[in-house]
Amino acid sequence: MEYHNYAGFPKDFLWGGSTSAYQVEGAYNEDGKGLSVQDTKAVTPGTSDFKVASDHYHRYKEDIALFAEMGFKAYRFSVAWTRIIPNGVGEVNQKGIEFYSNLIDECIKYEIEPIVTMYHFDLPDALNQKGGWSNPETSEAFIEYARVLFENLGHKVNYWLTINEQNMMILHGAAIGTVNEKVSNVKQDLYQQNHYMLLAQAKVMKMCHDLCPQAKIGPAPNISEVYPESADPRDFIAAQNLNAIRNWLYLDVAVYGRYNPIALAYLKDRGYAPEITEEDLDVFKAGKPDFIAFNYYNTSTAAHSSFSDAVVGPEDGDQQIELGEKGVYKAVYNQFLERTNFNWEVDPVGFRATLRSVYERYGLPIIITENGLGEFDELTADHQVHDQYRIDYLKDEIAEMKLALSDGVEVFGFCPWSAIDLVSTHSGVKKRYGFIYVDRDEFDLKELKRYKKDSFAWYQQVIATDGENLS
Ligand code: BG6
Repeated sequence: MEYHNYAGFPKDFLWGGSTSAYQVEGAYNEDGKGLSVQDTKAVTPGTSDFKVASDHYHRYKEDIALFAEMGFKAYRFSVAWTRIIPNGVGEVNQKGIEFYSNLIDECIKYEIEPIVTMYHFDLPDALNQKGGWSNPETSEAFIEYARVLFENLGHKVNYWLTINEQNMMILHGAAIGTVNEKVSNVKQDLYQQNHYMLLAQAKVMKMCHDLCPQAKIGPAPNISEVYPESADPRDFIAAQNLNAIRNWLYLDVAVYGRYNPIALAYLKDRGYAPEITEEDLDVFKAGKPDFIAFNYYNTSTAAHSSFSDAVVGPEDGDQQIELGEKGVYKAVYNQFLERTNFNWEVDPVGFRATLRSVYERYGLPIIITENGLGEFDELTADHQVHDQYRIDYLKDEIAEMKLALSDGVEVFGFCPWSAIDLVSTHSGVKKRYGFIYVDRDEFDLKELKRYKKDSFAWYQQVIATDGENLS
């Protein structure tokens, strides 16, 4: 839709950036930290592990000063569960509490709002050894961990995020490390894990409201609008299928307290449905989010599929786009979209579409907790990084977010991935996302010095002009 008058970003809009603990902190075994699944899982061959990452643990003051110089109003980071409770349950590590307390104080010193993710892919390995999320004890452990966070840090945090990209953990469990190899029905087990996580999330949201009345809390899935490949009505049904299974299943439980009917029909028919009791539904109803946070990188495109299809995945076999599933949908590339050097589709208009869908459906304020471009950046001899491609990418995304504001969508913050370079989940150090370059290679740590990229000054100006000047 075009308008005669367009909305601008509100003055109190939370411009910021995001990171996650295991990808940025390093110090993987320091000051009492226990090991998480990210420390113990095999890394993609040829890429760095997460042991040192960007050494944010030791350099957070320098990093936050740089964020403040950029004008950040918010910093979204995650707490490493294993710094707080090294074995997932039991003893609390005071050094871990101290670290995050100091990090939060450092943000507050610069009037940067800390936005804290409780759990970002880094389950304590000790819990993983006992079945991970397949074991309901993990949900109990997560709830206790949340209590420790609220009791120790709750007085100075206004925005909490529960679980990062729970939907990706379920849909791409093999890649993220949530698949329980010991069970016979892997998918049923994943959806049972999902159910336990949803229950834990609802209890934690309720606990947040009880213990920290000034704070707000929400889930942080990865949401992407699904297009039908064509106007063939059967493609439209395929797109609805994927939307239900990929997106709405997770948010419908969080917001409406019930399973999405299309997703549930699919789970039951395929034998993947979790056990859902009346008490579970009461738990869902008692713990509701105050806002929706979501990560957006691109949209998905789906075509009709039947049980007899031989192939349902993308033609090049690349799993960066959806996997496809017989009788549900075929995953296809969108012929109208370009792709990055890492084969991710680029779709700023789809960002507006996704914002509109989420807001129309749930009516809750939205914050974007990830969005960004992973690229091969180059540090020149005079320590510059000319990342015009990142500026172009973000400029288009922000412009579409602004249009979504004119559409009436309530967006209150934007924290692109990533505030500073960190180790990519699957592609190591070479795939960089930050406004600040961290000088290290895949295996040579060098001095880990920080250099401002061209996008640093650009984002500084975007923030200074409340999103008016994107050029
Ligand atoms: C999101 C995750 O899925 O995407 C981040 O929350 C991740 O942890 C980001 O790093 C980008 O993905 P990748 O694979 O390029 O690092």
